[in-house]
Amino acid sequence: MLDTVKRPQSSAATHCTSSDYETMYRRSVEDSDAFWLGQAERLDWVKAPTKGGEWSFDPVDIAWFADGKLNLCHNAVDRHAASRPDATALIFEPDDPQSAGRTLTYRELQSEVVAMANALKAIGVKKGDRVTIYMPMIIEGVLAMLACARLGAIHSVVFGGFSPEALAGRIEGCGSRFVVTADEGLRGSKRVPLKTNVDAALAEPDHDTPLDGMLVVKHTGADVPMTEGRDHWYHDVRSDADCPCEPMDAEDPLFILYTSGSTGKPKGVVHTTGGYGVWTATTFNYIFDYQPGEVFWCSADIGWVTGHSYIAYGPLLNGATQVIFEGVPNYPDHGRFWQVVEKHKVNILYTAPTAIRALMREGDDFVTRHDRSSLRLLGTVGEPINPEAWRWYFEVVGEERCPIIDTWWQTETGGCMLTTLPGAHDMKPGSAGLPFFGVRLQLVDNDGAVLEGANEGNLCITHSWPGQARTVYGDHDRFVQTYFSTYTGKYFTGDGCKRDEDGYYRITGRVDDVINVSGHRMGTAEVESALVSHPLVAESAVVGYSHDIKGQGIYCYVTLNAGEDGSDALYTELRNHVRTEIGPIASPDHIQFTDGLPKTRSGKIMRRILRKIAENDYGSLGDTSTLADPSLVERLIEGRQNR
Ligand code: WT7
Repeated sequence: MLDTVKRPQSSAATHCTSSDYETMYRRSVEDSDAFWLGQAERLDWVKAPTKGGEWSFDPVDIAWFADGKLNLCHNAVDRHAASRPDATALIFEPDDPQSAGRTLTYRELQSEVVAMANALKAIGVKKGDRVTIYMPMIIEGVLAMLACARLGAIHSVVFGGFSPEALAGRIEGCGSRFVVTADEGLRGSKRVPLKTNVDAALAEPDHDTPLDGMLVVKHTGADVPMTEGRDHWYHDVRSDADCPCEPMDAEDPLFILYTSGSTGKPKGVVHTTGGYGVWTATTFNYIFDYQPGEVFWCSADIGWVTGHSYIAYGPLLNGATQVIFEGVPNYPDHGRFWQVVEKHKVNILYTAPTAIRALMREGDDFVTRHDRSSLRLLGTVGEPINPEAWRWYFEVVGEERCPIIDTWWQTETGGCMLTTLPGAHDMKPGSAGLPFFGVRLQLVDNDGAVLEGANEGNLCITHSWPGQARTVYGDHDRFVQTYFSTYTGKYFTGDGCKRDEDGYYRITGRVDDVINVSGHRMGTAEVESALVSHPLVAESAVVGYSHDIKGQGIYCYVTLNAGEDGSDALYTELRNHVRTEIGPIASPDHIQFTDGLPKTRSGKIMRRILRKIAENDYGSLGDTSTLADPSLVERLIEGRQNR
């Protein structure tokens, strides 16, 4: 049983006390439509919805607020520009603390979004078009997302750390004919050649969708090649012309976001306008307990869902003031996060366990030399947080003054699903906590039998919620297969989970072939397919293993073509090959060359054994008698890399 840490009394008023939570949670599940139609009133609707959830998980068909019409850019920008024009919306903090930052009020944000929307129009973007956004963490990235929403175009943001190869697949996958990028990005003083990467992606031999237009934001001023007729500098085509918000149906797609699964290529998860808007607006309000005038900072990148829901949408839908940070936690030194907190008087910080662990290792001085008295609430997301890192975050960073929220959710859930609420619940380090309003969970065993009470099992969601992904772009069967076929009639999260006597949920990690490296989700199958695309590689199997900082590291077993030897040079070459195919986030931590993979007589790779060896925990390998070649295990143990 985990210790309980009493929630510190927050100085601010709270949106939800513990008795509110009980009442509201009960209402959210017993009278779900009334509850969510009520929450929908947080948004301005062109036509208010009268319908709540209309959904089925077998067959899979999900809609919320289906008869409503709205525009999320209007809700995130224009309505605040009208009512509080001088309130600060965005505070840009550049990679280099010596460079000039920038602040936009809601009125200025509106002009900038209009300028971006006009630029998109100028290159031919229309309602329903897919627009790929491959940007650094600068204000224009957020503008591009909101400008798409304004026009009713569907954005597909691709993380700037992905390689041209990976970008090409994501442009192709959704038939996107438009790209918004920048000359270069900056991260920890390193330059990221974004524009050149886009050119390389479009030149991939198997890429055959021509682009209609590309917008390039001048950021570092690097000299980049521009293709006449196709590529346009943003500053040349932006304009202040009138650009009204397109009224959208609640179920019109808002964005596509590619995410990894246990098999195949990344899937383009689709979120729609009304439900996602209500979910991000509501969760942001209650979970971050945002109070007017406070400064919020989510350190994620807009390339991930966290940056969608808690940078581009949730905070702005609530009219919040937030920091947009271009840099990294360890540049120019390990105190950078706390220096930003001090400089902008950040009240609410939302970051990832991997960053917390990395900073914890550098010692408390980097933290304590900066004034953190503005901090009121600390959040974590993306992977399980170990109690030791939790305690450091709570005690050293927040001086035991700030509640911690450990929010569990996924790309597919659209926003937070499990958390404690800062004004309502005590906390348990390492446990995400309780279901948010409308979230109905079940733990099931491997045969699908429902487990009651304090128990451990596979985490499923039994009822739809407004923020739920609706489909996989262009492949609804894959959506059904991936999420609803393991346990028919239930959404299966892919996570293992423990529930305790108090109903608190603790995520134990993925139970499928997905690994979580520094909070980045990766399919082992993707890394395997990158490895076997190298001409010397015959076969590979990739598993995750526990890593002190990254949560999980990437361990690759590789067999080479006959006659080839695993040299140090080849080791480096394979590592680089994976970086080229996917991106630096997929760099293998270990590659073990082996003369074979442990397979059953029917040819199935026994990953259980490979995981154990990668963990350097080979004492109890379990039953190996079904292996085709039992002597292989000895050789694998002998050659293990993670000692
Ligand atoms: C997977 C989803 C949620 C936005 C960022 C990641 C893991 C996420 C937690 C948490 C334990 C967590 C799960 C989940 N995860 N948050 N608080 N505690 N695990 O989104 O890339 O879609 O990854 O991240 O394993 O399934 P994502």
